[in-house]
Amino acid sequence: MTNVPDIALNSGVAMPQLGFGVWQVPDADAETAVGQALRVGYRSVDTAAAYGNEGGVGRALATCGLPRGEVFVTTKVGNSDHGYDKTMRAFDASLQRLGLEKLDLYLIHWPQPAQRKYVDTWRAFEQIHREGRTRAIGVCNFTAAHLDRLRNETDVVPAVNQVELHPYLAQRELRAVHAERGIATEAWSPLGQGGALLADPLIAALAQKYGRSPAQIILRWHLQHGNIVIPKSVTPSRIGQNIDVFGFELAGDDMAGIDGLDRDGRIGPDPDDVG
Ligand code: A2P
Repeated sequence: MTNVPDIALNSGVAMPQLGFGVWQVPDADAETAVGQALRVGYRSVDTAAAYGNEGGVGRALATCGLPRGEVFVTTKVGNSDHGYDKTMRAFDASLQRLGLEKLDLYLIHWPQPAQRKYVDTWRAFEQIHREGRTRAIGVCNFTAAHLDRLRNETDVVPAVNQVELHPYLAQRELRAVHAERGIATEAWSPLGQGGALLADPLIAALAQKYGRSPAQIILRWHLQHGNIVIPKSVTPSRIGQNIDVFGFELAGDDMAGIDGLDRDGRIGPDPDDVG
């Protein structure tokens, strides 16, 4: 069984550096996929109210046989639930769907700057954290400007900022901001959603060189940069392959080669345009 290293979050909580993402996994398939992931050694699961699969994730957690304390569970507040009171209610509803009494990490899914509510939402997060109902709080898709606003108007520094990040969108500047402020960088779509990135000639050449798959090369690049990763797959062989990335290391010049693929290749929306 693979032992995934932990990242120490600024709240003092340890989070596995590699977890299982379930974006785009239908609720009916989530129990099986998460169950498979937990069997092969994943100890962190990343879901969201908006994914519609917290129920399936919860069923997998209930039937996996692992003590609650062994699995790190993340979920996110949906875009229609921003604002203090709605967020408080949304948190309770997520816990209920997950079948949990306490969460490990609660995230704001999108800042939706045009709605001007994320500061109020964050105040609810701070309250939920103070009450001990989640071990850590963080954000997703926040730019440096959104992080500045939280810093100026609220008390708790987010433990995590989960952003689109892969070799075609390396987020170098944002990662530097995170490092300076003690915010862990978490990558969503770490494999570029399984698209062109996996077929990139450099990635293919490195896969050949190391005798690993393209996905494993990309995941190593993330891990060696200190990113938290949550690759998604519903394919058992890939679920296994994606956690089997701790027995080799990319050389410095190969890391630099992958760094050179950065091309502002965003796949998802620009965070300022959502909501
Ligand atoms: P599938 O779920 O059908 O196995 P990301 O995590 O970057 O969003 O990427 C998820 C996509 O990449 C999914 O389409 C998934 O397909 C695919 N994928 C996940 N792991 C691998 C892998 N090891 N090799 C090839 N494709 C993968």
